Amino acid sequence: MDTVASAWELVKIYGKGEAEVHALDGVSVDFERGRFTAIMGPSGSGKSTLMHCMAALDKPTSGTVVVDGTDVSRLGDRALTKLRRDRVGFVFQAFNLVPTLTAAENITLPVDIAGRRVDRTWFDQVIGILGLGDRLGHKPSELSGGQQQRVACARALVSRPSIVFADEPTGNLDSRSAGEVLGFLRRSVDDFGQSVVMVTHDPSAAAYADRIVFLADGRVVDEMTEPTTERVLDRMKRFDGTPARHATDATHATRAIDDSRPASTGAGV
Ligand SMILES: Nc1ncnc2c1ncn2[C@@H]1O[C@H](COP(=O)(O)OP(=O)(O)O)[C@@H](O)[C@H]1O
Ligand SMILES: [Mg+2]
Repeated sequence: MDTVASAWELVKIYGKGEAEVHALDGVSVDFERGRFTAIMGPSGSGKSTLMHCMAALDKPTSGTVVVDGTDVSRLGDRALTKLRRDRVGFVFQAFNLVPTLTAAENITLPVDIAGRRVDRTWFDQVIGILGLGDRLGHKPSELSGGQQQRVACARALVSRPSIVFADEPTGNLDSRSAGEVLGFLRRSVDDFGQSVVMVTHDPSAAAYADRIVFLADGRVVDEMTEPTTERVLDRMKRFDGTPARHATDATHATRAIDDSRPASTGAGV
């Protein structure tokens, strides 16, 4: 498989002593280039922490993150900034647009900061697909939530990053706007070969993905390929942090990941 990003034995511990939280407890996962992967798991299972470590927005306590062949942990601050800017796109649940800038200015901001030229053909293509053509001069406050998130998607894609990470991008959207954002992410994979990793708790959103990785208590506990809403719902019914014991069907086997290791003994501290 052509891996665009991977984590190896990723551990992230917040706090110290009594207050220590093992947000990631040894996560190893590969993300395939040109594929759409969803990350699911209960609240507090480490999904956002994983996204932030993968996107070099946060540093793991131990373990390795590789993005596009680059070992992120070996990079200094300048190189990290460059990697985040050039190779990673990020879509947040809360949009995170700059309120004083127009939609167009928000979209090109990362490229402008980098002092690079915006690829106008690509910009127009992205804007066209997202249906933002007549909204480019508007400030975020003049846009609906769905429009704001589409602007955030355009911002994530305009630099043609190697990989886009999206943390519950549809969490604040109504179902119609969510469908537009998900449809766009899907299309960016199918039509442009973009690699997308998206956190969601919504089975119907996860069904847009090619593969789902399930987290629980900071570990990968299961995964599913070619998901459907029904199969995800079925999997979630059994979601008590234990891996699936049996495949739901023969063709798209739900593979149980070995989770038989002993509970954390503070590995990586
Ligand atoms: N900055 C932080 N400081 C302390 N604990 C944190 C911090 N961020 C996350 N955590 C804890 O780490 C665990 C995983 O959090 P998170 O990655 O946000 O989970 P998820 O996105 O799956 O809901 C939770 O127990 C959370 O409370
Ligand atoms: Mg989260």
